Amino acid sequence: MTAARGLEGIVATTSSISSIIDDTLTYVGYDIDDLTENATFEEVIYLLWHLELPNKAQLQELKQQLADNMELPQEVIESFKTYPIDKVHPMAALRTAVSALGLYDDEADLMDKEANYRKAIRLQAKMPAIVATFARVRKGLEPVAPRKDLGFAENFLYMLKGEMPDQIEIEAMDKALVLHADHELNASTFTARVCVATLSDVYSGVTAAIGALKGPLHGGANEQVMKMLTEIGTADKAEEYVLEKLNNKEKIMGFGHRVYRQGDPRAKHLREMSKRLTEITGEPEWYDISVKVEEAFTSQKPLPPNVDFYSASVYHSLGIDHDLFTPIFAVSRVSGWLAHILEQYENNRLIRPRAEYTGPGKRNYVPVDER
Ligand code: SDX
Repeated sequence: MTAARGLEGIVATTSSISSIIDDTLTYVGYDIDDLTENATFEEVIYLLWHLELPNKAQLQELKQQLADNMELPQEVIESFKTYPIDKVHPMAALRTAVSALGLYDDEADLMDKEANYRKAIRLQAKMPAIVATFARVRKGLEPVAPRKDLGFAENFLYMLKGEMPDQIEIEAMDKALVLHADHELNASTFTARVCVATLSDVYSGVTAAIGALKGPLHGGANEQVMKMLTEIGTADKAEEYVLEKLNNKEKIMGFGHRVYRQGDPRAKHLREMSKRLTEITGEPEWYDISVKVEEAFTSQKPLPPNVDFYSASVYHSLGIDHDLFTPIFAVSRVSGWLAHILEQYENNRLIRPRAEYTGPGKRNYVPVDER
């Protein structure tokens, strides 16, 4: 038995949800470029869960269900006040709160298809409320309740900021959510599938997935990108910064990908959004620094930017705290995790690979006072 490090190139399951073939990303057959230009996030959620785009009535029903289920149990809101709030990263708070949500869901351990779908709606709806409420509570602000008349992206921004976002902000958030919704068997989605393949519950699967997304080699990279841009400060310092990091054998966050070779098709949409939004906010330097980092990095390594690179300056332009960037990724990706969890339950088999043993050969036990 020879190990494939990091399971590179291993096909671990079949799936009808999304595909990456020859650097092209599709959700259930629809090209990501097409969906980013034309679909709303709610349409994409429906597509991932039902494997078809919704008609008008189906879309309206889903939107209603999401709006109706956004409000958090009071116990979860109160629990934020018991966290050591100035030390807690919002991804840790999100992971804890999703786990806690399971405690207040009477159907948490019901395993039939309809109950699992109802839980998917509830979780998808409550994720933005958790992120927004925690973000406010830690600043000593009152939580803002969701409004039933608002769309998903709009409600998220409204709960976060406590005021109505403008149309450009809503569109940008909606597109970002579409772009992050699913991505084949990425590390967090695989984690979710491994968890529920033991026939554990939906809340456990999503909690596990949030833990996997949090790491800087995965979703956590977008926050690290913003940290880097801030450290660089001005576009003229970008090249020197990148070369020094590479000389020290350090990774540059937001570049490289396990599957894409020529480039991540999502990055160009975020690049365009970054250019537009940084101009509108009067802070074009964030885009300019990003472009210089890209030029300097790709002149050294043939690794194009991934989804996390330009999303950093996009979220910054939306006035979002930098440590909320990865939680936003989770608010979108939970749609994909839930699609994969439902798919896993439909055709389940325990996921249990093997390890190539590299420890010592056979040894005899030595009693403790002879060691
Ligand atoms: C996401 O899988 C998905 O689908 C994930 C995702 C999704 O939508 O779910 O697309 C979202 O997680 C995007 C990735 C975010 N992470 C980062 O931006 C962190 C920086 N990137 C790298 O750490 C890395 O490129 C990974 C983690 C993305 C991929 O890791 P791999 O496939 O294990 O590649 P590797 O670390 O083995 O790197 C191969 C080579 C190495 O050089 P050599 O030792 O062979 O000389 O490329 C180099 C690496 O050092 N390399 C980098 C680099 N990325 C790879 N060198 C400097 N900076 C980098 N960013």
